[in-house]
This record gives sequence, structure tokens and C-alpha cells, in this order.
Amino acid sequence: MKLSKRIQNVAPSATLAASQKANDLKAQGIDVISLTVGESDFDTPEYIAQAAIKTVKEHTGDRYTPVNGIPELRQAIADSYKRDADVRYDLDQVFVGTGAKNVLFTLFQVLVDPGDEVIIPVPYWVSFSEHVKMAEGKPVFVQGPYEDSYKITVEDLEKAYTDQTVALLLNSPSNPSGVVYSQEEIQAIGEWAVEKDVVIVADEIYSRLIYNGQEPVSFVRTTDDVRNQTIIVNGASKTYAMTGWRIGYALGNKEIIAAVSKYASQANGNPTGISQHAVIAAYNEETDEVEKMRQSFEQRLNKAYDLIVSIPGFKLANKPSGAFYLFPDVTEAAKMTGYDSVEDFNLALIEEAHVVTVVGSSFGISDCLRFSYAVDEATFAEGVQRIKEFIEEKRK
Ligand SMILES: Cc1ncc(COP(=O)(O)O)c(C=O)c1O
Repeated sequence: MKLSKRIQNVAPSATLAASQKANDLKAQGIDVISLTVGESDFDTPEYIAQAAIKTVKEHTGDRYTPVNGIPELRQAIADSYKRDADVRYDLDQVFVGTGAKNVLFTLFQVLVDPGDEVIIPVPYWVSFSEHVKMAEGKPVFVQGPYEDSYKITVEDLEKAYTDQTVALLLNSPSNPSGVVYSQEEIQAIGEWAVEKDVVIVADEIYSRLIYNGQEPVSFVRTTDDVRNQTIIVNGASKTYAMTGWRIGYALGNKEIIAAVSKYASQANGNPTGISQHAVIAAYNEETDEVEKMRQSFEQRLNKAYDLIVSIPGFKLANKPSGAFYLFPDVTEAAKMTGYDSVEDFNLALIEEAHVVTVVGSSFGISDCLRFSYAVDEATFAEGVQRIKEFIEEKRK
């Protein structure tokens, strides 16, 4: 039996592996603090769940639906952009897929030929580079300075650009850094992409999770030419606490959207009708629950940030403004406790302090660890306390 070269070239998801590690330790009876999760700990709001139940009971789950999503859902998504940003999208500019992860995967399948290059700012979400590699493309990594939370500029893009560059992936708010690009920075990057005819894939899955007065920022809010150069990727997972429901979408250029639909028609068909009806309710009947969850994350960020920067040897250039992660540089902490690398320091934190985070190397920066604050405040505080005690003990 032989496995393809393609799959041998793919790294397993480090975030899923870290959560699995935490679960394994828990199963052995160890009291583990897991700060690995990339999902909200809130329940899906009741009105959304009810719409799903109704679909099961009254419509057998809606059977097979159109591959690109039920028209009512595509309309609800388009309406949300009209409401929020006064921008109109037609129904054939919306593709609804099985979670943003699968939508991104499919996008790279239709945009990338073998050898084509996709520019990916570092740090990046673990799946981006693998999606490009699965399309036999080449991820080209670009990293801005630590002082600016690694944000990239047009000058960085200019250096990374070659004749093979076909796309740029920009994820703002960022997983793992929480950084949010300003509307001016987005416009400038967009204009560069228009000039070079590079497709922008804008992963805006955390667009509604922004804090402490951060204005909503989006490629949707750019000029027509930049918007036409961009495919927006977003979904229900993070905003509505619906990670398990698996609904994501792509929005933009009709030709690309049609190609994504064609690929999906052979690869996975439609996302489940039950989830689609739930998400129609999410968009059309919005209550104050989304805002309440956002406020709770904001409060947690404010506490978690103060705690993280109070750990000896942990540093963050700026406080994040979005998503639900902190990505401190911990090289000093590793050094002062006698470890040669952050990787070894992380392993010791897991085995001795029983605190599990995700190593930065899987996001492209090996100096860092990613902490999720999508957990209750007491759990986060306990995790930090354990790390402080661990560091204190090792420094004796
Ligand atoms: C940046 C980013 N994009 C996409 C996704 C995938 O979201 P979905 O649950 O819709 O597949 C995640 C999930 O962690 C993410 O962090």
C-alpha cells in the first residue's frame, strides 16, 4: 500500500494536535489547563438552534440543497454586507461551504497551479500554508517587525512578489496575533494587488470579534477596484458560536465563485441543510446575544493581556484588537528557565505545569506560544499562575 506524495507533504493541524494532547492528559486523570481552543465556549444561541430543529422536524433536513448554498442563505449573507457596509453583492457572488476551512481549501484548488506562489503573512493560521501546498503551490512567507505586531506593508509585498505570485492571503483580525490592519493599510495593500493583478483572499472570520473601540475594518469597505480583486472568506463559526455547524462562505468575483461551486459539486456537494437554515436565522433574526458574547471576550482580553505580560520573560509589542488569542514572544522565559528552545519550554509546561498552549512554530514564529482566552477567566488565571510558579521554581 502506498500513500500519495501529496499527503506526505502535509503537516497535521497543530492546533487540533495540541487540544488532543490536553484531552489525552485529562483522560489519564491529570488536572490540565488547556488554552489551545480556537472556538467560543458559549452555546449556540437558542433562536439559531430552534431553526435547525424545525428544519429536521418539518423538512427532513432540507435534503440536498444547491451546491453553493440555499438562495435564502446567500441572500441573508449579502444583506448583512448591505446593512453593515452599504455594499451590494449579487447571489452569484456568494458561495456557502462546509466551514471557512473547506472554503479556503477549495479556493486554493481553483486559484493555484503547480508552482504558483501565494504570499502569506507570518504569523499565519496553521491551515493556510497546507492549503497552498495541497494545491501544489508554494507558500511565500512575509513577516513584518515584532514592534508592529508583525504587520506587513506594501514594501514587504513588493519584495516577495515574483512572476509566479497569484494570490495574497490576508487574515485580519489575525489568528494567532489578534492584530487588526487599519482601513488605510488594507486599501494600500489592495491597490498594490490590483496593480499586480494578484487575487486577495481576505480571511475575515473574526471580523465581528473586535474590541476596545476598534472600528470595523474590511476589504468590503475598500474601493470598487480593490473589492473586485478580493475574495472575502467568513463564516458563522466564530461570530455565532457555531464551530460545529460547519458553515463558511466566500464572497466576490463571479468567475471565481462559479469555479469554487464547480469544484465543490464534485468534492463534497452541499453543506448540511440543517446548518444552513440555522445560519439563515442567525443572520436574519439577530438578537443582542452576539454583542453580549463579544463584550465578554473583550473583558477576557483585557484581563488575559495584563496577566500574560506580567509573566517573567513573556512579551507582547501591542495589545491585540481582535479574535481571541494572545501570541507572546517567550524566548526570554525559555532562556531563564534553562531551555534551549521555546519548543522544549512548551513541552515542559505541558508535562510539569500541566498547561497546554500551541507552539508558535506551527504559526511560523518559533519564539512564541499561542494562548486562547476563549475560556473562563478563572481557568486562564490559573494557567498563568501555574506558568509563573513553574518559572519561579526553575530559576531557583
Ligand atoms: C483564521 C481562521 N480561518 C478559518 C478558520 C476556520 O473556520 P471554520 O470553522 O469556519 O472552518 C479558523 C478557525 O480556527 C481560523 O482561525
